[in-house]
Amino acid sequence: MMTYPKPIDDQSYLINSSNHKSLQQTAKTDPNNFWLDIAKRLEWMNFPTIAGNWQFQKPVSIKWFEDGLLNVCTNCVDRHANVTPDKTAIIWVDDQGKTPTHISYAQLFKEVNAMAFSLKELGVKKGDRVIIYMPMIPEIAYAMLACARIGAIHSVVFGGFSSESLSGRIQDCGAKVVITANEGLRGGKTVPLKANVDTALLQAPQVEKVFVINRTSAHVPMVAGRDIVYVPNYAQVVTPEPMNAEDPLFILYTSGSTGKPKGVLHTSGGYLTYASLTHQWIFDVQENDIYWCTADAGWITGHSYVVYGPLANGATTVMFEGIPNYPNPDRLWQIIDDLKVSIFYTAPTAIRSLMQAGDEWLETSSRKSLRLLGSVGEPINQEAWEWYFHKVGNENCRIVDTWWQTETGGIMMTPLAGVHNLKPGSATQPFFGIQPALLDDLGKEIDSNPAEGNLSVKSSWPGQMRTVYGDHSRFEDTYFSQFPGYYFSGDGARRDADGDYWITGRVDDVLNVSGHRLGTAEIETAATMDHSIIETAVVGFPHPIKGEGIMIFAIPGAHVTHSDDELKAIIKQTIRTQIGPIASPDAIHIVKGLPKTRSGKIMRRILRCIAKSEFEKIGDVSTLADPTVVEHIIEVFSAKK
Ligand code: WT7
Repeated sequence: MMTYPKPIDDQSYLINSSNHKSLQQTAKTDPNNFWLDIAKRLEWMNFPTIAGNWQFQKPVSIKWFEDGLLNVCTNCVDRHANVTPDKTAIIWVDDQGKTPTHISYAQLFKEVNAMAFSLKELGVKKGDRVIIYMPMIPEIAYAMLACARIGAIHSVVFGGFSSESLSGRIQDCGAKVVITANEGLRGGKTVPLKANVDTALLQAPQVEKVFVINRTSAHVPMVAGRDIVYVPNYAQVVTPEPMNAEDPLFILYTSGSTGKPKGVLHTSGGYLTYASLTHQWIFDVQENDIYWCTADAGWITGHSYVVYGPLANGATTVMFEGIPNYPNPDRLWQIIDDLKVSIFYTAPTAIRSLMQAGDEWLETSSRKSLRLLGSVGEPINQEAWEWYFHKVGNENCRIVDTWWQTETGGIMMTPLAGVHNLKPGSATQPFFGIQPALLDDLGKEIDSNPAEGNLSVKSSWPGQMRTVYGDHSRFEDTYFSQFPGYYFSGDGARRDADGDYWITGRVDDVLNVSGHRLGTAEIETAATMDHSIIETAVVGFPHPIKGEGIMIFAIPGAHVTHSDDELKAIIKQTIRTQIGPIASPDAIHIVKGLPKTRSGKIMRRILRCIAKSEFEKIGDVSTLADPTVVEHIIEVFSAKK
């Protein structure tokens, strides 16, 4: 195994050989004092006296800093606007790559107050839910922070989700206000955001007001009395709402192995403490860094490491509206040179697609401003890691491979640039205060090394989700039931002889497509919304760029006269309508039956073997209700390749 040894001169890193051990020691032996001390990095109206108060046994309850009072927006905006008003908070790069827009902390303060004032005028109050369905423009950050300022709970829905998905989320959280844009702009294409909102609201009539930000010059229909073009009123300053540390900050929907997406709820004090700390220490963010995380604000990475973490730290964060290969696959590298980006955080899928585009796209940039690189979203394969290290980073940058989840609020495992040896593909070590465990299928902890098992966490951390919005028993069932007393991540992991962790991927029916999480059940349900399809089974298969691709096996109705190609087009379109373009399948096979047990359970394991062309691994099929179906599926699969 190739190892990249820890830096010899590590003292320039915030966390280095001089302070790492003692921090680790306190976090372990005295977590209360460790976290209370860390909480001092925020500005509190009432400083908490209690750190964690939680139990993972049912009834599951998780609280952090419960007697603390603060406002998240004050922490991300006001205190920096007071001390470093001229420092750039956000550098925004638009889809076309025109002159970047620099937004200072003083300007951010004005913008956020203007938006907060407008929301208040609409009657939005503490605890109300606001849906944000917007492109990556600075206004998305203003909207999030404005909600935080007045105590409203935001739920950002990624612009790649369809009106159906949007509608489901609006209804689930009972939002009364939606903030959107007339259109989005991504990779030169427009995204009909407002039109999607209009369709979504046909099923969600409780929404009273829609704020529309005009990103383009396109005119979109406006519903009188409901839709309002947002015009900032800079004369207004809104007093920040005092929030208990455990008051909700946001809901973010994510897919699981069963049912509809769940609303992951994060609260104020613990979330911000954890996002801010992990951002600064893991990315080693110092005074003059230009930090860029390419994630969309519609995902947790965008929440924690584009908006909340960086702004809480008074850092300069880059926000990019576009995509990596538009207009050309040197786009990211050009931006890095232009803005002198020093810290760069992206996903393996982007790295792989740019690697595939060819090294010549690196020649138009030097990327010499870079000093640290990060990866997130899925396991990074060694080849992509090496390319990132040797080519993108010119061997000058340490890479932090960060493992975490929507549920964890912030990074849970990663090498620290100034401390750990790097191993391509390994997230190496838990962050301070995080206690991972590998459990066997019976829930017994495996202590020895090397080991492999179900990746769980033994004790709470401030960034942990608190509940599934409106459904606490679903929270308990999903994360705390399979292995009582532990938070179970749904991932499998291996621990090597050095005690370093390697994430092996999901062990449940959740796919990770280009770093986006999708439940197989969700896609199956979506596909059968068209009446020509009776039943489907969805499995993942290795995809060279996306990491995992979506493969669908579908049974058409007996009466259906469409050709296979027509059926495939129907399935594609139905899924795009139900979920969104991000769930568009990569392969569809029209079959007569599915491998089921006699009790009717689909044997996805068999389909996964077929999807990988590992027919020899299928094994004994005699217990299936109809064993001949396997041969039939293999035939269809092989013919279509
Ligand atoms: C799932 C969480 C929070 C980041 C964005 C995705 C996978 C995430 C890594 C990594 C291996 C990773 C896991 C996890 N994952 N980061 N560095 N190495 N796998 O958030 O949609 O909540 O998905 O992404 O499978 O469970 P998410």
